[in-house]
Amino acid sequence: KASLKEHAANARLLFGFAVDTRQLRENRRYREVVEQQASIIVAENAMKWRALRPAVDRYDFEDADGLLTFAEKNRIKLRGHNLCWHESLPVWFDAVANRGNAHRLLVDHIRTVAGRYAGRMHSWDVVNEAINTRDGRGDGLRNSPWLRLVGTDYIEIAFRTAREADPAALLTYNEFGLEPETVEGAGKRAATLQMLRRLKQRNVPIDAVGIQSHLEAGSRSGYGPELTKFMAACREMGLEIFLSEMDVSDRNLPVNTDSRDAVVAESYRSYLEMTLQERRVTAVLTWGVDDGGTWLTAGEPRRDQSAQRPLLFDSSFQAKPAFAAVREAF
Ligand code: XIL
Repeated sequence: KASLKEHAANARLLFGFAVDTRQLRENRRYREVVEQQASIIVAENAMKWRALRPAVDRYDFEDADGLLTFAEKNRIKLRGHNLCWHESLPVWFDAVANRGNAHRLLVDHIRTVAGRYAGRMHSWDVVNEAINTRDGRGDGLRNSPWLRLVGTDYIEIAFRTAREADPAALLTYNEFGLEPETVEGAGKRAATLQMLRRLKQRNVPIDAVGIQSHLEAGSRSGYGPELTKFMAACREMGLEIFLSEMDVSDRNLPVNTDSRDAVVAESYRSYLEMTLQERRVTAVLTWGVDDGGTWLTAGEPRRDQSAQRPLLFDSSFQAKPAFAAVREAF
């Protein structure tokens, strides 16, 4: 049977995974799944500040370079994740960064990292998760270190610097929590659209929006027309759309793994059937390859302490019902 990337290509989509560079090097089965199924990949951690910046005056590009080499050898596109985020900052960051030097730190980082891979990246998540409607600001911006140290225009600075450093990459704003039909989801969508519109008005170079799509299986409120409207608004702004970090948390499902797998598969199917109606969606990536590597087991532990099963392959790299569901949805 045909692979996910082939089914995706027939629907004019890219499909792929967030990958762990160590697994890719050391685990042959992991590597084979990526080579067989993916037309696009993203580093789960290897291109974040903490990975690239062991010290303020030192960059470590070994893992990131290796990933790009792997991608190019296999003709797989590479997304960069990410250039500016409030998390995964290096341990030295708090002690070193201040209002006097943060602007320089941000610009230098983006020039160095995006510049190093210029012309070879599919896209860059230039700014990740800049909205937090709970931080009590009128503009909905997150009270992140970057906002505190650089000011509210850090987003604009990051995008302009990224465009200069790599004019070929699609510059992306990536965000979570845009999906649910809840009051909270509505707030996130509204604040995000407001921010994107403002950037567009100011001629900030931005090409795409990443809807992370960390979903919840059997979520009561579900995913629906409000997300469809959000995507249409992004299209009307001229933005491309990526479903950039898909997984389906089974944290509230009962223990039986067969029934969990069935509900997770159904969640993938219904979410993709809905979102892929939007023609500006051009790429779908899951956040991890196999259930053995999912961040959710630690990040959103189940009450029964069993591992989460949110991805398309189980921890033995066998395709799960969710694999078939995604393939059929393409
Ligand atoms: C997560 C990784 O999966 C973990 O391994 C790491 O410890 C923390 O970051 N949204 C994002 C990703 O944009 O960068 C996050 O990745 C998951 C949520």
